[in-house]
Amino acid sequence: MCGIVGYIGKNKAVNILLDGLKKLEYRGYDSAGIALYNDSDQKIIKSVGRIKNLEEKLNLSSLEKYKKGIAHTRWATHGAVTEENAHPHKVGSITLVHNGIIENADILREDLKEKGYQFKSDTDTEVVAALLDFNLEDDFLNTIEKTIKMLKGSYALGIITDQDKDYIYVVKKDSPLVIGINDEEKFFASDITAINTYTNHFIFLDDGEIAKINEKEVKIYQHLIEKNKDINTIDIDLESKNKNGYAHYMLKEINEEPIVLEKTLKPYLENIELLPNISDYSVIHIVACGSAMYAGMVAKYILEEKTNTEVIVDVASEYRYKNINYNRKTLVILISQSGETADTIAAMRFAKLKKQHTLAIVNVKTSTIAREADEVLFIEAGEEIAVATTKAYLLQVALLSLLCLKLAYDKKIITEITPYLNEFKILPKLVKEVIDKDSDYQKIAQEVYQKNNSFFIGRKIDYSYCLEGSLKLKEVSYIHSEAYQAGELKHGTISLIEKDMPVFGIITDHDIYEKTLSNIIEVESRGAKTIIITTDKLKTNRNLEIIVKDVSIYTQGILIVPTLQLISYYVALLRGCDIDKPRNLAKSVTVE
Ligand code: G6P
Repeated sequence: MCGIVGYIGKNKAVNILLDGLKKLEYRGYDSAGIALYNDSDQKIIKSVGRIKNLEEKLNLSSLEKYKKGIAHTRWATHGAVTEENAHPHKVGSITLVHNGIIENADILREDLKEKGYQFKSDTDTEVVAALLDFNLEDDFLNTIEKTIKMLKGSYALGIITDQDKDYIYVVKKDSPLVIGINDEEKFFASDITAINTYTNHFIFLDDGEIAKINEKEVKIYQHLIEKNKDINTIDIDLESKNKNGYAHYMLKEINEEPIVLEKTLKPYLENIELLPNISDYSVIHIVACGSAMYAGMVAKYILEEKTNTEVIVDVASEYRYKNINYNRKTLVILISQSGETADTIAAMRFAKLKKQHTLAIVNVKTSTIAREADEVLFIEAGEEIAVATTKAYLLQVALLSLLCLKLAYDKKIITEITPYLNEFKILPKLVKEVIDKDSDYQKIAQEVYQKNNSFFIGRKIDYSYCLEGSLKLKEVSYIHSEAYQAGELKHGTISLIEKDMPVFGIITDHDIYEKTLSNIIEVESRGAKTIIITTDKLKTNRNLEIIVKDVSIYTQGILIVPTLQLISYYVALLRGCDIDKPRNLAKSVTVE
């Protein structure tokens, strides 16, 4: 995974690189490093832990003379979290930062050892540095071209060579890399958010392209032939970068939900025909990772129940390796907040290769998935900084639900769409009312925060909300939690229920209300402390009960989800967790 950033120009590189690293921390934050250089001298400084640890280690005033550099924030893949394994890596004349995974690193390492190279780290990146050093030719472009032909896997590389200190070289395959351009300075990064405070002109590098960059110009080569690339002008809202008085980004982002819902849905609610007609497809495959996949689960239940459509939801890391028979007209829907999740990108490319139509639901407009999918619908979440997704997930559910409604209409299963659209129109107001019941969530958090285990149970679509509620709780509070189809609990898992164990029961489905309630009573009989999340038409009058307005299946989840997010937030707060950056996680998972 990891984030990389580089600078070459007239300003102090160290400040720009540190700033870029902080913005890339969402890609990994277990260690970081920086390489600074000028014509006569080079410095490499690394540290384990957050970027602030690196910052504390740097004597900034002594580093002001350096106007070039590359930097890295790490999410460990090869080798433990140590300073030796942190980037940049230097071998011979090559200094390197890398995002991605080199799959044949072990074979290459053995081969290079035989040739006399010694390795200080366990990383695949140091192997690439050694390989570049071994392949050195007079023209460094030849060196890179020869080296990348020997690499298997994914990479975005920022390279400095002692041979040619006027330049930074970058090259990529299957990991994102963008170059930022100003008159007398240039940047590169894994993501434009690392550099968009300095420029709004960007070149997106494609696989196999090499860029040779100095302060004055960027030259792009493919197979050693220079080529022209478009320069994109992209203005990004910088507003989202501060917490606006909230204690955490997670809380701020939950509170933004009414606004971003309005922004995302408005164009479609004014003209529903802006959404595609997908009624021609016999089968829909929904493919994503993490919460985005759970948003797909919500859509699956609506599609099956309301549109007579066959749906398969799969995790992207498995879908692409399956022997899928596309013998009926299939729509492949990819869902991704970042648009950069490696497995989701690979699943999209797999479906495209098999000539299937791909429809992506994405937040980041400049992302790989947004650029490569056949058709894209954007959610308007703005930047989401907390690692645990909240507003983006909610918008994925909302937009998918509207797409399901449109399909039911296009298939003439419903003839009157206006009442449903009116429900979507009042959602921002209803969600705000749900969010404002702060004290209810804090009360529940008090009951839960000292426990080590919990369950979320529900049936059918309520189970899909359980999946997300359970994930949110475990990722931010570290309380172990499992989501279960309520009727399935008694087939073994119920043996884990013990006195005062929190069990969240979600009930919004009227048809199976009694069945789910029976399952709730079953766990209560075994001592569980139940917390019910339900609607004003289904309330069970328990002590710990959150009640939202009863609406149609298309919009119900959008009222349930914020309650689960806020409970998780307050539990994590009481447990003193690092809410915006939970341990071991990264916001954008760019390795497979
Ligand atoms: C990571 C994040 C999750 C997210 C998942 C998919 O695991 O921590 O919150 O749901 O990636 O990310 P995407 O950007 O593809 O939606």
